[in-house]
Amino acid sequence: MKIFIVGSTGMVGRECKEVLEQDHEMICPGKDEVDVISWDVVIENLAEVAPDVIINCAGFTDMKACETEDFAVRKINVEGPRNLAQASARFGCKMVHLSCGHVFDGKKGMPQPYFEDDTPNPLSAYGKSKLESEIAVRSNSPNYIIIRSICLYGINGKNLVKSILAQAVRKKKEVLRIPEDQFGAPTWSYRLALQIKTLLEKGGRGTYHLSAGGYCSRFEFAKYLLDRLNIKTPVEPCKLKDLDDPFVMPVNCLLENRLSKKHGLNVMVDWKEDLDRFLDKFGKELIKEARRA
Ligand SMILES: NC(=O)c1ccc[n+]([C@@H]2O[C@H](COP(=O)([O-])OP(=O)(O)OC[C@H]3O[C@@H](n4cnc5c(N)ncnc54)[C@H](OP(=O)(O)O)[C@@H]3O)[C@@H](O)[C@H]2O)c1
Repeated sequence: MKIFIVGSTGMVGRECKEVLEQDHEMICPGKDEVDVISWDVVIENLAEVAPDVIINCAGFTDMKACETEDFAVRKINVEGPRNLAQASARFGCKMVHLSCGHVFDGKKGMPQPYFEDDTPNPLSAYGKSKLESEIAVRSNSPNYIIIRSICLYGINGKNLVKSILAQAVRKKKEVLRIPEDQFGAPTWSYRLALQIKTLLEKGGRGTYHLSAGGYCSRFEFAKYLLDRLNIKTPVEPCKLKDLDDPFVMPVNCLLENRLSKKHGLNVMVDWKEDLDRFLDKFGKELIKEARRA
């Protein structure tokens, strides 16, 4: 397949590029070459490249800034996907779009997960923009895959693993407080890229929940991560409300990969299994990076 990715410098985009380029022809323009908010630029590039698939890994992903940067968020998270979806219809190619579990309000009782057909009700500006992006893709592209994932981490870009490590390294003996009342399945961006490859190669269509198996609280995750890397910074549980974030976080972020399992396409594994693999491979590099942060 000839695959055109936007957002290939980000955490998910880089993994997708590296995983897919093993078997497919990749075209990976930077933001300076293809800014998704420009319809003319999108159309011009896609007319020239004529890909089989467009993957949209571009996004305004800073949840805090989303609360105040309404104009930019709408442009990048809603108008960008709409442009790409309309272009996919015009050129007859498939569109893969990244959405997020934050389209749900997280009020389901634990440990009940969210299914693909549950009713969204986002709480944050980021979650609202992702829901609008889904609507833009569904209503404009006749052949799409929408992926809702959550709590992604990886070696590229900013993410939860890196921010916990940076705080832990900075605090040393001071106590690190992490919420015990938010739950999800931390998911390795590399595994997500493998899952996207499988869906593309097996002809997947529609809206998929794709997160790691099992679940934990954010506190359990941080504790496991620091113990595993032998970092001695003390960690104590706190509540989400103690964080003083400007946005509302869903409490229950559990996603059930029902559609991919139903079709025998699920390649996601338990969150601890992948976190162990990730830390075996990148643990030393992550600690060095945290010390420099
Ligand atoms: N991170 C998570 O936990 C998570 C969870 C679920 C879903 N998602 C979704 O997955 C997608 C990728 O997330 P990520 O964490 O990989 O994001 P990221 O690391 O912040 O990367 C975002 C990418 O978008 C590019 N970009 C921004 N504005 C653009 C524009 N106007 N035109 C073209 N490219 C633009 C950035 O380019 P520059 O680097 O040049 O700025 C970067 O390559 C997003 O849609 C996000 O909502 C993320």
